Amino acid sequence: IYTQKKVYDHNLHFSIDEIPPRVEPRKVLMASPEYFDIIDIKNPHMEKGLGNMDKKLAISQWENVRNEYLRLAELGILESVNVISGVPGCEDMVFAANQTFPWRDETGRKEVILSKMRHCSRQKEVPYFEEFFRDEGYKINKLEKTTLFEGMGDLIPHYGKMLLYGGYGFRSEKSAYDEIAQLLNVPIIALELINENFYHLDTCFLPLDEETVLICAEAFTTEGLKTIKKMFREVIAIPVHEASLNFSLNAHIINDQITGKKVALMQKGGIITFHHLVKKGFEVIELDTSEFIKSGGSVFCMKMMVY
Ligand code: ARG
Repeated sequence: IYTQKKVYDHNLHFSIDEIPPRVEPRKVLMASPEYFDIIDIKNPHMEKGLGNMDKKLAISQWENVRNEYLRLAELGILESVNVISGVPGCEDMVFAANQTFPWRDETGRKEVILSKMRHCSRQKEVPYFEEFFRDEGYKINKLEKTTLFEGMGDLIPHYGKMLLYGGYGFRSEKSAYDEIAQLLNVPIIALELINENFYHLDTCFLPLDEETVLICAEAFTTEGLKTIKKMFREVIAIPVHEASLNFSLNAHIINDQITGKKVALMQKGGIITFHHLVKKGFEVIELDTSEFIKSGGSVFCMKMMVY
């Protein structure tokens, strides 16, 4: 028995089989990279990146990611690819996973939660995404009580289920999930993040299907790991060096409910992660996102999935 609108941590008394199914989004949203830059240190990865990013290379890497999405859309594995124009002074806007959290309820109604970004420079990005969702007919939700929440970077759905996992500790605050669970009428499992290299949940937690998740165990508390093991039949741990240096868990899993196709887009070189994805039946597309990793993000954060 579980309660919607509730946040759980180690008091789980329900199983995943009780949770209703969910339709996965099929549209990609990106933000163009012309104003991408590394000008301060918002996370430990940026220490190496500051003054050391090749802008021309970054733009061509971004274009390769977008072209891959266009190809998948042509194949009917994705519905469409949408791009918001980058804005001067919004150097992190390309990380389109962070400004919002889109959702679709069981009746098909679309709504979006607007993030409250920790860094001032990133707060400016949110209105451009708000405009996109307004035009798409989404109901816009602003958080009243919460001060910090960074969208899909920290809040990740259980594949195919009406259940969310909310990371907190570095960028989002735990109390955000009380407010979001209420707004979206959905249960949220809160997971504390304890390693600053994994400052967003999307750097260390990669669900593949209803039963399987890849994680970096060092990012979580002992209680958090127990909770994850309760919700997934198979929890595969990826070594900390691969997850941290290669951003291999910041991959984009497309497990398409319509075509049945399984595709994973990931940073090249994450060989252990690669091997697990292939074993699970994914066609793995390796991309180079080195210039974005210098800012603390890879494929997963370079897009938002929308309904
Ligand atoms: N430089 C950006 C920041 O620190 C990177 C964001 C990466 N996004 C992500 N979802 N991990 O905010």
